[in-house]
Amino acid sequence: MQENQFIPKSYSNSIEKGSFTWSSPSNIALVKYWGKKKDQIPENPSISFTLNNCKTITKLSFSKKESTDHFAFDVFLDDEKKDDFKPKIETFFKRIETYLPFLKGFYFKIETSNTFPHSSGIASSASGMSALALCLMSIEKELSGNIILDEVFYQKASFLARLGSGSACRSLEGDLIVWGNHKNIEGSSNLFGVKYPYQVHENFKNYQDTILLVDKGEKQVSSTVGHNLMHNHPFAQERFKQASANLNKLIPILKTGDMDGFIALVESEALTLHAMMMTSMPYFILMKPNTLEIINKIWSFRQNTGSKICFTLDAGANVHVLYPENESDKIVEFIKNELVVFCQKGEYIKDKIGFGAQLL
Ligand code: PMV
Repeated sequence: MQENQFIPKSYSNSIEKGSFTWSSPSNIALVKYWGKKKDQIPENPSISFTLNNCKTITKLSFSKKESTDHFAFDVFLDDEKKDDFKPKIETFFKRIETYLPFLKGFYFKIETSNTFPHSSGIASSASGMSALALCLMSIEKELSGNIILDEVFYQKASFLARLGSGSACRSLEGDLIVWGNHKNIEGSSNLFGVKYPYQVHENFKNYQDTILLVDKGEKQVSSTVGHNLMHNHPFAQERFKQASANLNKLIPILKTGDMDGFIALVESEALTLHAMMMTSMPYFILMKPNTLEIINKIWSFRQNTGSKICFTLDAGANVHVLYPENESDKIVEFIKNELVVFCQKGEYIKDKIGFGAQLL
């Protein structure tokens, strides 16, 4: 598949105005994407769980405008006008204009809200960009006389979301999504996310993810800066190879339900992501003392109880606590009794693996 296959030939319909609303989930990577080439091409393949409760809901209203020489739009978060969001969206529109040639022909009103607190340290860029990409694809579908197949629709929406924020391309469908070429994963692509195509054991059905909000502040280092620090990073090439090897190892783990293999791989990936940050130049640490307190508590709990609880981290201090559904009661108790004290204002979000975006 080549980029130019996403350029539409012509549109059969013309529309004056309308609106579409999509709800799109966040995702948490098991094998992490960290490092990219030009045009948001990942240096290594990654795989993520789609989340169920952490979502962005975006309503895109559009009306035809006279001039077609510039982008025209306004952005609202929770009904409040957000001009500081505009540069990111303008950049996104510039990147995708070739693939959606109608963009300059409309004025857009983008109204967005998140089901998770805005300043929770949970990135809204994946769910935000995927929701916007889906709304834009709904317009393209209507312009094309509604003849786009679902598969083609989601593939192009993922392709567009990637150009907004890399990991956003894994935030459209459920429940396990791979992004990035991998020789042993059929259909995998650097250009868009695909559903993980192989067998997944019952142990991973309805997997739980409770996000402990250790630090709800803005990220100190944007992921764009972080990705760039992988250029000339002394361990970069080994890291990219390791990520591919880990994805390969995950295939039999997911098939056989090997929980210990899963735990070792997922925790190692999380710490490796942070190790890359700590060993870049300039270096930085996104974990906080409470992140480490939680990790140590999880390790003791696992050792003392034989639980299959584990953790992963995103590019921040918050801890994603992952566990099988059949351990929910006991782990929620453990979280309440021993981990909540390490969360900012005692806050956490109970989530689980989910099934993807919805047109509302
Ligand atoms: O999508 P970006 O450019 O914000 O990159 C995010 C990368 C991580 O969230 C840190 C890891 C991942 O694979 O999701």
